[in-house]
Amino acid sequence: MRTESALDALLDGANTHPVRLHEAMRYAAQGGGKRIRPLLVYAAGELGKVKSHDLEASLDAAAVAIECIHAYSLVHDDLPCMDDDDLRRGRPTVHKAFDEATALLVGDALQTRAFEVLANANGDAEVRLSMIRSLASASGSRGMAGGQAIDLESVGKKLDLAGLKQMHAMKTGALLSCAVSLGGIAAQLSSTQMQHLATYSEALGLAFQIVDDILDATADSQTLGKTAGKDAANDKPTYVTLMGLDYAQQAANELQEIAIVSLASFGDEARALKALAKLVVKRDK
Ligand code: IPE
Ligand code: IPE
Ligand code: MG
Ligand code: MG
Ligand code: MG
Repeated sequence: MRTESALDALLDGANTHPVRLHEAMRYAAQGGGKRIRPLLVYAAGELGKVKSHDLEASLDAAAVAIECIHAYSLVHDDLPCMDDDDLRRGRPTVHKAFDEATALLVGDALQTRAFEVLANANGDAEVRLSMIRSLASASGSRGMAGGQAIDLESVGKKLDLAGLKQMHAMKTGALLSCAVSLGGIAAQLSSTQMQHLATYSEALGLAFQIVDDILDATADSQTLGKTAGKDAANDKPTYVTLMGLDYAQQAANELQEIAIVSLASFGDEARALKALAKLVVKRDK
């Protein structure tokens, strides 16, 4: 698959010095994962009119960069000081397979690697700068990291629906939206096209975390490849714990519809994005 070979090519080899850190970075980034964010990058990139070698290389760089940030977020999310999880993508979490300090450094190093990959990408410098800006703001305190902070602050508390939506939009939606934006930036789409994509990805991002909350409560660890029932065990406010399973499922279905409708002006060109909206809501892991 394209993401796997792009990751293999753009990550340092496992025998790069210091070997243990590089091995652990590969362990975190490779070997499983649905690769939804890279798939969104490529699907949005398909909307570009001009197909070129530079575009394809930029999309590969964007796919790898966003997956590095995502993998780092999972490694840190699983640490004992956060969700304290032993299982990820069907294998022991990085701090279990290696150790906590290595897991911390894997996150640090995957994060900076992501920006290095984007800075080194082919093509226009303005495009690269814009991709770097988008990934930085989606990953940081106003995006994923900020959402994770809210998640930790909210343990044992009852968020209202607006607070829950904001937490989900930041901890999960920001990176999913960024994946779509990176594809659109690389393909140099118009601002109107980018606006339609923003509507799509906002809905998709929220739907993604709602379905993650549903699966946490309804699926088993074997299928998920991560510990089921963790949200209830950790007393996290989620769509399921706050609004109930039926409401959560209904909300996810409605968001899927909003996402699909927002693609209308792209016609058949957006079929990959449409299929991904359906996959996000129908998935079983
Ligand atoms: C899990 O993301 C963490 C969330 C943001 C909900 P994914 O469900 O995309 O995890 P992988 O990459 O497939 O393992
Ligand atoms: C994590 O949300 C979101 C991240 C930014 C990693 P969860 O804590 O629900 O993700 P899982 O269920 O452990 O994958
Ligand atoms: Mg978490
Ligand atoms: Mg977690
Ligand atoms: Mg979860």
